[in-house]
Amino acid sequence: MKKLILLLTIFAAVSIAGPIVPLPRKINDIDIKKALLGRKLFSETLLSSDRTVSCHSCHSFDYGGADPRIVSVGIDEKHGNIQSPTVYNSRYNFKQFWNGRVNTLKEQADGPTHNPMEMGMNALLIEKRLNNDKEYKKEFAAVYGSSEIRYEQVIDAIVEFERALVTPDSKFDRFLRNEIKLNKEEMKGYLAFKQRGCITCHNGINIGENSFQRMGLFVPYDFNGSYPDRHSVTHKEQDKNVFKVPTLRNIELTAPYFHDGSSKTLDKAIRKMSHHNLGVNLKEDEIHNIVQFLKTLTGKRPAILDLK
Ligand code: HEC
Ligand code: HEC
Repeated sequence: MKKLILLLTIFAAVSIAGPIVPLPRKINDIDIKKALLGRKLFSETLLSSDRTVSCHSCHSFDYGGADPRIVSVGIDEKHGNIQSPTVYNSRYNFKQFWNGRVNTLKEQADGPTHNPMEMGMNALLIEKRLNNDKEYKKEFAAVYGSSEIRYEQVIDAIVEFERALVTPDSKFDRFLRNEIKLNKEEMKGYLAFKQRGCITCHNGINIGENSFQRMGLFVPYDFNGSYPDRHSVTHKEQDKNVFKVPTLRNIELTAPYFHDGSSKTLDKAIRKMSHHNLGVNLKEDEIHNIVQFLKTLTGKRPAILDLK
């Protein structure tokens, strides 16, 4: 019975989502001036009520756009309840947040500044602070041509920056484009990733980020906290313990893993995944090879970060 369900899941997932495709080498739809202003705002602590936290505090470029802490820490040392995902390549996510409660980066960016746990701000206060800053006044005027800074412009610039956070030319993307070969272990890992069925959920341009799936599809997962799962959005019974399938791009940089940050290393994460979501216990060499494959998914640091 379990095998049959697995086969059906594989069939459904592959037919809906399609294969893994490389990220574009160059993205041509970015307004660079806006994105550079967004880059500054992304690391701006003025955007938090006590001036201690910026977007970068929880989405660090030193950790693949994610947070090395199990849960993020916002203003007043307030601890969040869920692990911070990467902002890299998030323009390709079909929804945002672990439970997909918003559709676009624009709706998403509106969230943290208002979230009392994260930045605890409101639009008026952000406008007031930025309008009191001569540098920002000049910079916004140059980009938006208006004398007063408005909150929508702040969000607009941050989103433009996020849209530029793409990590092209990973070893795997180059392999997909027939430019290079994977080594033996990486290749074996890729085959195991396909044959074992990881690819049924982790596929498409972001190797994930295009469907919701249950954590604990085969073996129930022990939820040791109350996390906002998909059920908290839809209130449908079948969405209990369901989350957006995360991207596996740059996964070697974004530990700890899972919504609860419960796995510190990739081999532990793979063990957990295969046990709970495939109902198999992989052999040591298979796990090793899948780790080698996952490491080929690390792309180049987004060019916008180093643009002068
Ligand atoms: C205090 C830590 C913290 C701060 C500050 C913060 N974030 Fe986040 N961010 C998170 C966490 C945690 C999540 C996941 C929340 C969830 O899914 O319920 C998240 C989710 C996201 C996502 C969705 C990614 C995905 O794969 O679904 C994006 C995009 C994002 N944040 C961008 C931003 C931007 C832009 C800012 C600044 C305006 C910001 N964040 C500030 C912790 C933070
Ligand atoms: C049935 C769908 C499904 C299958 C099959 C599946 N995954 Fe996942 N994967 C998910 C979901 C959903 C999550 C997020 C779960 C959570 O955080 O609770 C996830 C999370 C992960 C993570 C952690 C990502 C992060 O950023 O925290 C890794 C690594 C991973 N999967 C690798 C694999 C590998 C390797 C396989 C095959 C052995 C696999 N997955 C099979 C759905 C699946």
